[in-house]
Amino acid sequence: MTVPTDRPTPMDGHRVDALHRVVLSWYGENARDLPWRRPDAAAWGVLVSEVMLQQTPVARVLPVWRDWLARWPTPADLAAEPSGEAVRAWGRLGYPRRALRLHAAAAAIVERHGGQVPAQLEELRALPGVGVYTAAAVASFAFGRRHAVVDTNVRRVLARLVEGRALPAPSLTSAETRLAERLLPADGDEPPLSPRWNVAVMELGALVCTARSPRCEACPVREHCRWHGLGRPAHDGPPPRGQAWAGTDRQVRGRIMAIARAARGPVAVGQLSDAWEDEEQGMRCLESLLADGLLEAAGDQREELGLPGVHR
Ligand code: ADE
Repeated sequence: MTVPTDRPTPMDGHRVDALHRVVLSWYGENARDLPWRRPDAAAWGVLVSEVMLQQTPVARVLPVWRDWLARWPTPADLAAEPSGEAVRAWGRLGYPRRALRLHAAAAAIVERHGGQVPAQLEELRALPGVGVYTAAAVASFAFGRRHAVVDTNVRRVLARLVEGRALPAPSLTSAETRLAERLLPADGDEPPLSPRWNVAVMELGALVCTARSPRCEACPVREHCRWHGLGRPAHDGPPPRGQAWAGTDRQVRGRIMAIARAARGPVAVGQLSDAWEDEEQGMRCLESLLADGLLEAAGDQREELGLPGVHR
């Protein structure tokens, strides 16, 4: 498609209709059956899933999401417990500040919205830790509102399909958001088509139009795809950001948190030192976990540390 990304183009109209038809039908045949996508999934389950899925693959999220919803079926159930319990239940999903934010969001939902996850974009955005992406995802998937949901998978699909580029820009541009909004199916169907379109494009990116080995032979929109039509030109921008792990502060922080989660009570700093080899790195990581509120001193001194709110 020879389409500048932020103006109405010949792609509007019946070409977009064809795209909708083909992608929605592909989704109907190929979608993974995930619990937060089921029609009976509550908005709280959708919010929890979107926060967990932001930096973690589906397979790792599934068991943690199930346990989380079984233990805290509503925001009020989570808000009634110390934030440290959320950090413990987060387990090995990584980036555990997300657990603290989800706990804070649950408290705000109870305080401001009587325990019901709000449906409006602005109200969702105002919750702690809920950014543009998560707000749009919850408004769309849980409430059927017509908002573009633009995650990394969607960005890659649209970069290829419409712009003919192997990968999108390093971070989201407003032109990409406008393009995604223009491609949304109109309201009018019941249930509305836009949530299904959002998740279908996401799924296409996750299962077919993958970053490293796209399976164009299995792609329902191959005929419409500008990148495919151009012979799949290589990525010509800066290399995508990798997520370094071994030897990083993130790895050491993860090890410290694993010890703290497993302990029944507060842990002596000496016990935590199994988590690091380099003392300076270990101290830096401890300080950052204390600063983030993921650990706290169990008494007046910092000799013993524990999960927040749990060991008082
Ligand atoms: N279904 C709905 N939202 C999703 C997401 N963020 N990742 C994978 N599947 C999803």
